[in-house]
Amino acid sequence: MGNKSIWHDVDSYFIDKLLPFDPTLEHVLKANREAGIPEIEVSPTQGKLLYLLAKIKGAENVLEIGTLGGYSSIWLARALPEAGKVYTLEINQEYANIAEENIRHAGFQDKVDVIAGKALDTLASLKEKGVPPFDLIFIDADKQNNPHYLKWALNLANSGALIVADNVVRNGEVINEQRTDEQIRGIRRFMDMLENEPLIESTAIQTVGQKGYDGFAIGVVK
Ligand code: SAH
Ligand code: DHB
Ligand code: MG
Repeated sequence: MGNKSIWHDVDSYFIDKLLPFDPTLEHVLKANREAGIPEIEVSPTQGKLLYLLAKIKGAENVLEIGTLGGYSSIWLARALPEAGKVYTLEINQEYANIAEENIRHAGFQDKVDVIAGKALDTLASLKEKGVPPFDLIFIDADKQNNPHYLKWALNLANSGALIVADNVVRNGEVINEQRTDEQIRGIRRFMDMLENEPLIESTAIQTVGQKGYDGFAIGVVK
């Protein structure tokens, strides 16, 4: 890909035009970098897309799989009504602690629950606890488990819920059938499930920008 510089510059232009200076989220990114957290948050324009999707949906209860430092969690929380809630799942206890700090700093400590642990375990305990069914589910953790996360998402979704999965393109690697990389295989099996699952209508969109060449899958649960 020879166009990375223009992708980056166009993203900067859109951020400049459409995303007013945001001290809260700037603080989160700074805190994440200072804590040595990898720079793999959704980009600002993508975070705003998540926020807008949650608004369009009128989402009240959101599930996020893959918290990192809480950057996307905060975007999602901002879209919710007073009684809204984000449950966000993170395997790394240190990241979960930083996320909680960031979320408190953003004023969303009552709206966002960071749940530390392996998502496949914490999803099961959420189900047992009888968490509300979710209106929007953002899948953004270990891609090898995407097929399991899609099953859980369908299990925990409201009728009409939106399911969004990050990183389904990975520089085009998604179409490389030879790749033995577990993450790519997980994404491909996830796409196979979308192909064959009658309970969800979906599409996938390629993206370029400050986070390189990647994409989202988006589906609506029947
Ligand atoms: N949604 C975040 C980015 C998430 S990065 C944002 O845009 O700001 C992916 C995260 O998934 C990492 O923090 C990683 O630790 C976490 N993760 C990886 N495997 C996991 C698992 N099995 N269960 C829960 N979280 C997991
Ligand atoms: C990477 C990017 C992501 O958005 C993610 O969720 C996980 C990893 C990456 O670039 O490595
Ligand atoms: Mg991601």
